[in-house]
This record gives sequence, C-alpha cells and structure tokens, in this order.
Amino acid sequence: MIIAIDGPAGSGKSTVAKLVAGRMGFAYLDTGAMYRAVAWRALEENIDLSDPLSQHSIDQIVALATNEPVEFGYEKGEALPSRVFINGREVTNQIRLAETDRVVSAVSALPGVRLALTEQQRRFGESNDTVMEGRDIGTVVFPSAELKVFLTASAEERAQRRTIQNAARQGKNFDESEYERILADILRRDEYDSTREISPLAVAIDSILLDTTDLSIEKVVSRIAEMAVERWVMPPAFEDPSIDYTQTG
Ligand code: DC
Repeated sequence: MIIAIDGPAGSGKSTVAKLVAGRMGFAYLDTGAMYRAVAWRALEENIDLSDPLSQHSIDQIVALATNEPVEFGYEKGEALPSRVFINGREVTNQIRLAETDRVVSAVSALPGVRLALTEQQRRFGESNDTVMEGRDIGTVVFPSAELKVFLTASAEERAQRRTIQNAARQGKNFDESEYERILADILRRDEYDSTREISPLAVAIDSILLDTTDLSIEKVVSRIAEMAVERWVMPPAFEDPSIDYTQTG
C-alpha cells in the first residue's frame, strides 16, 4: 500500500508522514531529501548554478542524479530512517543548510533529475508498504496510491514551524530575522514549485485536502491513519471493464 503525502514546504508533511508510518508499521520515504541530496552534490562539485542554468550545468546535474543513488539509514535505536546518503556518503546535515534551500528548487525543476529520482522512488514503493512524502507523489510518482493526502497551512504558520524546528535543531532561541528569511524563502519556493512546467506542486483530483493551520499534529495523524486502515481493509471497488454495470436486469 502507498500513502502519498504531498504539500508545500513546512505544511507538516515530514512530521505527519513519519508518525503515520510509525503507526501503520510502514516504511517512510522523504523524497524532498533526495532532491536536496542532488542539489548539495551540485554545490559540492562547484557546478555553475547561476540562473538560467547552462546546458552544460544541466547535463552535469542530471548525471549526478542518474549515477549517484540516494539511500537512507537509521540512527541507533531509531524506528524510522533519518540519515541521508548519496553515492554512499552521508549528507544528512548538509542537505538542510540554507545554501541547499537556495538551489534545490532549480535542481528539482530539471526533467532529467525528476526522471532519475522518480524511478528510485517507484522501485522503493513497489517493494515496501510506504508512506511517501513530497510534491508529486499522488500526481506523478504513484498516481494509483491507495490513499492520497495533500497537506497545507498558511505561509506564516509554515514559516513559524520551520523556524522553531531549525532553532531546536541548533539549540538556539526563536529568531525574528531568521523567521523573515524563512518566510521569504517559503513564498519564493511555493511560487517556483507550483509554476514549474514539469510535475508542479498540485493537488491530485482524488486527494484528501487537509489544512493543518489550526489542527493539532495528533488530529491530522489520526485522521490519515483511520482513512488508511479503512482503505487497506476495504480497497476501492474493482470494476471489470468488460461488464456493463448499467444493465441491472
Ligand atoms: O520537502 P522539502 O522542502 O525537503 O523539498 C525540497 C525541495 O525539493 C522543494 O523545493 C521541492 C522539491 N521536491 C520536489 O520537487 N518533488 C518532490 N517529490 C519533493 C521535493
């Protein structure tokens, strides 16, 4: 079973997806981390990322995405993987740096990069019951996912959550200027991710839309887990295309 959780930056996807995976006993795949890992490698290789990207830069980035597989690993005692590796090297911390935030949208808009990562994501989902989070899981990666959820929240709420999360990670206090920077970055990435030509951030037609601005994490997780259990036990009705269901008698 695939549970697709899509939504914009800071909508609570990661927190919610991990908790749902834990509750269901499913694997968890953070597809954003995969795009971030490729973006970080492009920075590390000093590929010219100035806008617009040259054909040479595009070819170099696509080669990275195609040749360097992204993998996930566990911290000791962890139930779900939080460590990220690319081509066998750990990049868990690097992929969350502001530098990576700045270039990841441009990298993830490249069709060759999306193709390479989508293929890895499909392989993963085909061999595990998975909660997969991203932007295009329900629309492109697994359009046949048994449950699709689209999480959203106001941009201000999302920036607030990300600032608190980053501060906690670095052992610092809430910083107003950091909040303003993150809000600007979220607005810029929303615009970029929703208007790009290939796999834009969009709500799948059969997706459940959940606005999390005023919902507790616990409520969101329970709602999704309940729907998942219902669909797991009772998959959507199978219709045989050779039978004319309109003929009742
Ligand atoms: O979820 P995140 O902020 O870690 O994602 C990082 C970037 O990757 C984000 O700018 C959009 C992109 N992304 C994507 O295009 N498709 C996905 N399935 C996941 C992330």
